[in-house]
Amino acid sequence: MKPIEIAKGIYNVGVNDWNISDFHGYSTPFGTSYNAYLIVDEKIVLVDTVKSEFADELIYNISNLVDPKKIDMVISNHTEMDHSGGLGRVMHRIGEDKPLYCSKMGVKNLPRHFGSQMKLHAVKEGETLCLGKRTLTFLETRMLHWPDSMFTYLTEDKILFSSDAFGQHYAGFEKFDDVIGDEIMRHAKKYYANILLVYAPRILKLVEKVTQLGLDIRMICPDHGIIWRKNLGEIVDAYTRWSKQEPKQKALVIYDTMWHSTERMAEAIASGLASEGISVRPMHLRKWHRSDIMTEVLDAKAIIIGSPTLNNGLFPTVADFLTYLKGLKPK
Ligand code: FEO
Repeated sequence: MKPIEIAKGIYNVGVNDWNISDFHGYSTPFGTSYNAYLIVDEKIVLVDTVKSEFADELIYNISNLVDPKKIDMVISNHTEMDHSGGLGRVMHRIGEDKPLYCSKMGVKNLPRHFGSQMKLHAVKEGETLCLGKRTLTFLETRMLHWPDSMFTYLTEDKILFSSDAFGQHYAGFEKFDDVIGDEIMRHAKKYYANILLVYAPRILKLVEKVTQLGLDIRMICPDHGIIWRKNLGEIVDAYTRWSKQEPKQKALVIYDTMWHSTERMAEAIASGLASEGISVRPMHLRKWHRSDIMTEVLDAKAIIIGSPTLNNGLFPTVADFLTYLKGLKPK
């Protein structure tokens, strides 16, 4: 992917991963992207990296703009390997002596993956870093969704580098919300339902905190998918709505079946609910992927689960789904 200038002197140098179809149990038929951002000021900064197998592509993208050795510092907003897997290779290329800024938990986590040779600096909530004409401010977002997660805010350009928050698993050449349009919302919803739902109360507090801080945000740059530059209100409102889990008059009948008996029951229950004016869909667990069902669960008011009895227990697909559902803790 060619670097994209998202604002003057600021570039998305990340990569598209077109062929990933399963992201630890979440189906990604549209692939994903690992976004990394290069800020060229008096100091040159790289915000996040990419999955290890894409590290050379990231370095190549950077080389189209600047000699990677000229990068003065790296920010790691999150240790998960889709954003830091390439760190070792990148640091080796730009110089192991360059400072790497991350949260306090990042200082604990990164050496477990990369050894202790990196020059790590822990940044605190609200701490700033001057790049010359621009300033970075760090915001702790602990457990959103990893212990080390943080946001980085570029004050002068009003850009929030939001790590996984507001992301979507979507690979494409359309890199902005106003280019792709409403189509992106279903990907953002699926991402929220399958990755962030379990942290819904924390997300509400974070939205409140950012509102109280009065941060003027012109652009939200997540580490996956498109950048929000036109409809910031739409995605922030959606996150608030999804976190409140206010349901629609909607039910799901989720089931598997061996000889169609459970299927008949599922369809009869769905038909009964529909006759009462409820929006309802029977969802067969071998037709629908668990992550697509979870996306529907997000705004459902009721879920009904049906399983055949197999060897005195639940049918395996039903057990799989219930385990997945339990972990995400929908209200
Ligand atoms: Fe996209 Fe939590 O990594």
